[in-house]
Amino acid sequence: MHIIYRIATIDDYDQMMKLWTSSGGVGLGEADSKGNITRYMARNPGLSFVAFDADQLVGAALCGHDGRRGFIHHLAVQQTYRHQGIGKTLANRCLDALKAAGIDKCHLFVFSINFEARAFWEEIGWSHRSDLEVMSRYTTNNLTQGKP
Ligand SMILES: CC(C)(COP(=O)(O)OP(=O)(O)OC[C@H]1O[C@@H](n2cnc3c(N)ncnc32)[C@H](O)[C@@H]1OP(=O)(O)O)[C@@H](O)C(=O)NCCC(=O)NCCS
Repeated sequence: MHIIYRIATIDDYDQMMKLWTSSGGVGLGEADSKGNITRYMARNPGLSFVAFDADQLVGAALCGHDGRRGFIHHLAVQQTYRHQGIGKTLANRCLDALKAAGIDKCHLFVFSINFEARAFWEEIGWSHRSDLEVMSRYTTNNLTQGKP
């Protein structure tokens, strides 16, 4: 098995969505429509990465920044390809690309009950922030009720 890593493009969208939908632990919502991901990638060129085994997408990470901090979203590796360093490589590709863009720190969201992912992130050098809570709301008057 030879895994190829490359920058993600919007042409990968269908395969990325299929992976994210089947992975568990990835919070998907209306923000992940093809139109929104197209806009996200256009605003953050060269920062998201995919992993392929031949023509099969087996890993993906969406990454961007707001000018001051980076964010990694939706890192996932296909079940049968886990524990081979693919997740770590994708995350580190994102960090390297952020660093090259002049961004020196990156954040991510992980569900509190996603203990496996939390262990993964800590294992590859990320720190849990016990001093922060996430707060969200829609830009309309609707309350979010915790939806992503
Ligand atoms: C989290 C995820 C991306 C990790 O991908 P992966 O390719 O298996 O991770 P790696 O092989 O790079 O793991 C690197 C290290 O992290 C640790 N790690 C990985 N998966 C772990 C798990 N389930 N439990 C505990 N530690 C884990 C291990 O120490 C591993 O090194 P080792 O295999 O040499 O012991 C993958 O499990 C996944 O897709 N999960 C479902 C989606 C998800 O929850 N994504 C996170 C969103 S925040």
